[in-house]
Amino acid sequence: MRTSNTSMAPKHTFFFSIIALFLSGLQTIIFGSSLVTPTLPPLPILPLPSYSQLKWQQREIIMFFHFGVNTFTDSEWGTGQENPAIFNPTGLNAAQWVDTAIQAGVSLVILTVKHHDGFCLWPSKYTDHSVVGSPWKNGHGDVVKELVDAANSRNVDVGLYLSPWDRHDPRYGADKLYNEYYLAQLQELLKNYGSVQEIWFDGAKGANAKNMTYYFDDWFSMVKELQSSINIFSDAGPGVRWVGNEQGFAGSTCWSTINQTDLSIGNASIVNYLNTGDPRGTNWIPPECDVSIREGWFWHKSESPKNLTHLLHIYYNSVGRNCVLLLNVPPNTTGLISETDVHRLKEFRAALDGIFSTNLAENCSVLASSQRGGKGGSFGPENVVDSDHLWTYWAPRDDNTQHHWIEFRPTSDGGRLRFNVVRIQEAIGLGQRIHRHEIYADGKIIANGTTVGHKKLHRLENGVVEATRVTIKITGSRATPLISSVGLHLDSFWNPHSV
Ligand SMILES: *[C@@H]1O[C@H](CO)[C@@H](O)[C@H](O)[C@H]1NC(C)=O
Ligand SMILES: *[C@@H]1O[C@H](CO)[C@@H](O)[C@H](O)[C@H]1NC(C)=O
Ligand SMILES: *[C@@H]1O[C@H](CO)[C@@H](O)[C@H](O)[C@H]1NC(C)=O
Ligand SMILES: *[C@@H]1O[C@H](CO)[C@@H](O)[C@H](O)[C@H]1NC(C)=O
Ligand SMILES: *[C@@H]1O[C@H](CO)[C@@H](O)[C@H](O)[C@H]1NC(C)=O
Ligand SMILES: *[C@@H]1O[C@H](CO)[C@@H](O)[C@H](O)[C@H]1NC(C)=O
Ligand SMILES: *[C@@H]1O[C@H](CO)[C@@H](O)[C@H](O)[C@H]1NC(C)=O
Repeated sequence: MRTSNTSMAPKHTFFFSIIALFLSGLQTIIFGSSLVTPTLPPLPILPLPSYSQLKWQQREIIMFFHFGVNTFTDSEWGTGQENPAIFNPTGLNAAQWVDTAIQAGVSLVILTVKHHDGFCLWPSKYTDHSVVGSPWKNGHGDVVKELVDAANSRNVDVGLYLSPWDRHDPRYGADKLYNEYYLAQLQELLKNYGSVQEIWFDGAKGANAKNMTYYFDDWFSMVKELQSSINIFSDAGPGVRWVGNEQGFAGSTCWSTINQTDLSIGNASIVNYLNTGDPRGTNWIPPECDVSIREGWFWHKSESPKNLTHLLHIYYNSVGRNCVLLLNVPPNTTGLISETDVHRLKEFRAALDGIFSTNLAENCSVLASSQRGGKGGSFGPENVVDSDHLWTYWAPRDDNTQHHWIEFRPTSDGGRLRFNVVRIQEAIGLGQRIHRHEIYADGKIIANGTTVGHKKLHRLENGVVEATRVTIKITGSRATPLISSVGLHLDSFWNPHSV
């Protein structure tokens, strides 16, 4: 507890003043001859992301590979009665999957190592319902190893999805036995395949499934014991939460913060809470938006990938709303990602690069309502147009009680800004703060919103705007707002009047 020192005798106060004077002199010597000492960074506002969560957030897009017996039976949920002999991806090449991910700008890929049907893509020693019973590589194959090897040699990270619901294994329904089985498989996967960056647990379960209590606490503890930098995904976190739907859309208000005590896995009544998070939440558990590039999660001959317009719409509503997009791209029966999907992903990446590689704000003069430590400090508004989107930021003065604003003007005479997308990013390393903001072009409001977080993208409702001055006002914030990046972009795919 901190106590005031009012009872301290004057002679002590004098003594401490001398010490303080000495220390400040020392500081001047250490930081050079100038009397200006570096301005201290602002205090964080809790809760904060962990190192692994920050790394996860910056990936922006993760790729999911749904693959297994369903690929061969043309179904989404297997029955568990499938004969392993049907699994025969004669041309399987995991390098092609990973190269597809890399071309899409993805640095983490997650594989369904076991789906609800219970068929294991690796030779688990605890069941014979696996690749061992298939003709693929005469039963000597291991899809998990093939993916891990392909990813490792290309510097791509790996994640795993091990379905809790298992329609094949007879132990399912017997709490202790099945949890032992599940934990045994978790240990196989997390001990033998190197570093795993994300693990996925879901609450999916058929209406007539046997009752079963999953020992989530045991699972999570074991996972963290075996993999130090892993993020655990489930409806309730603890590393990453579900966004509450499978369309890839976050709420237009989206907090990374939430109360974990109010969450439970597989509980339909919490989907709205998951979608928006909680400004007063005491846990940092940001949402991941899972959606498939096709209608189904598994490959079906009759389906084709979503068009570019749709994928961009998903991007703006997930990554552009403070989330990570988990995009599923299912390998086909040959064991390859179909050419149509590879092509669509190339279009998607090219479109994103086209939109975001040019920031029209980058050469603007940037003004702000105030700045922490004044000019010469390292918290000036110019930080929002540098290439660091996390740890360099504009910080207004803490004691400024007015609305904070930051403004962009082209430096060339008569220069005009022509854009239809505004990107705003908070320095989330110090907590998520902003809950209300407005954007103006030449003094006229063009967009407004609530939360910002890692990235907020405004695709302007009325299309392209031309202006000589663009202002962002922060009208509500849990603490002094810290903005790490701002972009003004031209999205040539955006035609609001055609939607
Ligand atoms: C599961 O348990 C609940 C409550 O104990 C019970 O009402 C329900 O009938 C059980 N379902 C099955 C499939 O056994
Ligand atoms: C589902 O969530 C609601 C809201 O948090 C809670 O009241 C309810 O107890 C939860 N149900 C289960 C089965 O955990
Ligand atoms: C979350 O927890 C905080 C702190 O206990 C509390 O103030 C807030 O009301 C909670 N949120 C909800 C939705 O209950
Ligand atoms: C793209 O797909 C969406 C959703 O399926 C559809 O509404 C839209 O018409 C399609 N656009 C084009 C250009 O095909
Ligand atoms: C799977 O995709 C590959 C690559 O496009 C293609 O060569 C192969 O014919 C596809 N297999 C099926 C069954 O469509
Ligand atoms: C900003 O200036 C640099 C250097 O002159 C130039 O290469 C770049 O294209 C300019 N950026 C924009 C968006 O105009
Ligand atoms: C804020 O944006 C919403 C739509 O996103 C719009 O309906 C509303 O008019 C805007 N408010 C102002 C003050 O511009």
